[in-house]
Amino acid sequence: MTIVVLVTGANSGIGLVLCERLLSHNTDGLQLCLACRNMGRAQAARSALLTSHPTAQVALLQMDTSIISSVISAAQEVKHRYNRLDYIYLNAGIMPNPQFDVRAFFKGVFSSDIITMFATGKGILTQKDSVTPDGLQEVFATNLFGHFILIRELEPLLCHLDRTSQLIWTSSSNANRSVFNLEDIQHQRGTQPYSSSKYATDLLSLALNTHYNKQGLYSSVICPGFVMTNLTYGILPSFPAFLWTLLMPVFWLIRVFTNTFTLTPYNGAEALFWLFKQKPESLDPRAKYHSLTSGLGNSYTQPRTMDIDLETSEALYEKLLQLESEVRKQFKEKQKALQHLHCAGPGSS
Ligand SMILES: NC(=O)c1ccc[n+]([C@@H]2O[C@H](COP(=O)([O-])OP(=O)(O)OC[C@H]3O[C@@H](n4cnc5c(N)ncnc54)[C@H](OP(=O)(O)O)[C@@H]3O)[C@@H](O)[C@H]2O)c1
Repeated sequence: MTIVVLVTGANSGIGLVLCERLLSHNTDGLQLCLACRNMGRAQAARSALLTSHPTAQVALLQMDTSIISSVISAAQEVKHRYNRLDYIYLNAGIMPNPQFDVRAFFKGVFSSDIITMFATGKGILTQKDSVTPDGLQEVFATNLFGHFILIRELEPLLCHLDRTSQLIWTSSSNANRSVFNLEDIQHQRGTQPYSSSKYATDLLSLALNTHYNKQGLYSSVICPGFVMTNLTYGILPSFPAFLWTLLMPVFWLIRVFTNTFTLTPYNGAEALFWLFKQKPESLDPRAKYHSLTSGLGNSYTQPRTMDIDLETSEALYEKLLQLESEVRKQFKEKQKALQHLHCAGPGSS
């Protein structure tokens, strides 16, 4: 049987290792589609996957989740290429210009919140966001809204009465209710857009279950734990590589106290891989599935109830639909203007 799996942000870190794990589990019948913004890096990822799995079916798709036109044309391409879509891993994500709040860190180290702080990064990370050409906040657009448009575009492939499809989001335990504001879903006014976008992801997943389960589409969220990837190295960009290597034994020691220090992308992808093997109807829509690693290095998946409620999730869903219709209107107007320019020919002003 053919199973089609699309993974966003598949060219590095947790997304790439997930692809490797899926192929090791089942190469026959699996059609992997790596949706990436940078085709050079995507090509390198595909070559690496084919080196270990020479007969695997691995396709590439150009998509920048922060740019609406890119998401829409990628979705059109998917509809053209495939007649089914069993899983979408909504994994692409950014944490741009992170600032490490040293004061908050030392305050946390000497408080009862020390384990939570290490486990979730709560309160110690702020970011500087920017605005995309579509006029959206970049973190919101990349981590959440581009993925939402992708799902909406791919509804015909995802919704079926005779079989199920799964959406699996890479969220974070950095998702924090107190940082999210329904009146500012893009987090224009705050300093923690990453945390806000991940909390919105948790809310949206619940709303998607409410609206789509009857049509055979299910949504789940995971937290990979604290994993050493480009995203985490970006938190302290001036830190030389050897210092990170020196820190590793300290991190392994911390793992004895908090199993969320998964550290390797392989361990971080545990919950993503575990969900691939579950019947979606058996999953809890209010649970976040955590990749965890024991002090002895064994990884496992554990569901933990999220701090979300149906009312806020529905309110966010409505706002996303509203924003979608505004963005689509803008997109159509741009298309029309482009067509007009094209018809008028090169001499037109
Ligand atoms: N590492 C952790 O400790 C941790 C903890 C909690 C959650 N997460 C989440 O895990 C996910 C994967 O991150 P990672 O840790 O594996 O970091 P990573 O190696 O930096 O991977 C992020 C991926 O997202 C892609 N991406 C970023 N912006 C994109 C865009 N506009 N369009 C398409 N793709 C885009 C990147 O592609 P490029 O190569 O083109 O940049 C890359 O493939 C993210 O959602 C992150 O928030 C990570």
